[in-house]
Amino acid sequence: MKADAKKVWMDGKIVDFKDATVHILTHSLHYGNAVFEGTRAYKTEKGLAIFRLQDHTKRLLESAKITLLNCPYSQAELEKAQIELLRLNEFNKNVYIRPIIYLGDGEMGVYHIKAPVRVAIAAWQMDAAYLGDEGLKKGIKVKISSFMRNSAKSSMNKAKASANYLNSQLAKFEAIDAGYEEALLLDEEGFVSEGTGECFFIVKNGVLITPPNDFTLRSITQDTVLKIARHLNLPILRQRISRDEVYTADEAFFTGTAAEVTPISNIDARIIGSGERGELTKRLQDAYFDVVYGRDDAFNSMLTYI
Ligand SMILES: Cc1ncc(COP(=O)(O)O)c(C=O)c1O
Repeated sequence: MKADAKKVWMDGKIVDFKDATVHILTHSLHYGNAVFEGTRAYKTEKGLAIFRLQDHTKRLLESAKITLLNCPYSQAELEKAQIELLRLNEFNKNVYIRPIIYLGDGEMGVYHIKAPVRVAIAAWQMDAAYLGDEGLKKGIKVKISSFMRNSAKSSMNKAKASANYLNSQLAKFEAIDAGYEEALLLDEEGFVSEGTGECFFIVKNGVLITPPNDFTLRSITQDTVLKIARHLNLPILRQRISRDEVYTADEAFFTGTAAEVTPISNIDARIIGSGERGELTKRLQDAYFDVVYGRDDAFNSMLTYI
């Protein structure tokens, strides 16, 4: 994914894309303490609209609190900055927004409290589907990872923390190297945790099932899909999913800001359902796109038009 734009927001200032740089002794680069968000803006009929801006910004600040990063900007200031940045960049396609709170240079050593907290927001056009346009229609091949999801005993997965993504990165590489398109990670007890950047759903006998966020990120897309499902009066269960239940699901799909609603057609060489995008998956996927593109009035409050 190549990211490019005219301008970037850095510590309250707008800078040219090429000047949005940091020093080699940036603390976060060495010791891994940074938190970020991934937010999308969709090109709706009424113009560019950021999807669930308030929720993503709130999660960013909560992530910072969890990892002891004292963000110098308020929720309102960060929301305003994201809107301003999108206006300045004059994007004419869908956009991905990446705010990051990190520790800059000036102080080395693991004890991080004296290192300066810095904040940046970058945004770039992202029109293609994260897991492929074909994947959105036909479904993707998924491998259950040999890597266990970060344990709740040693990590805090409610924080969208850079450090948590080493686990995701290694799992993603392993899956792609083995000829799959995405990894599904289990928790330390062997139940489904999440994908490398997605939450996981199955459909079994007409019931939509997704695990509780015990040790995982509180996903905004998962929440959106559950809200849509409730709106459609679909039966929902929030319960742990074991490996054998994954293989025998009627349908399966991933949700995430980047992944949107991506059907899964194959897991560890077991064909899921018909091996095509499932019926309920398609219904929820269509409904999700209606919501993010502002075509469903019932969910319009989730959009911030810029
Ligand atoms: C590890 C992980 N789980 C789940 C998700 C899905 O979260 P959201 O729907 O808020 O994008 C993401 C993506 O942000 C993620 O990185």
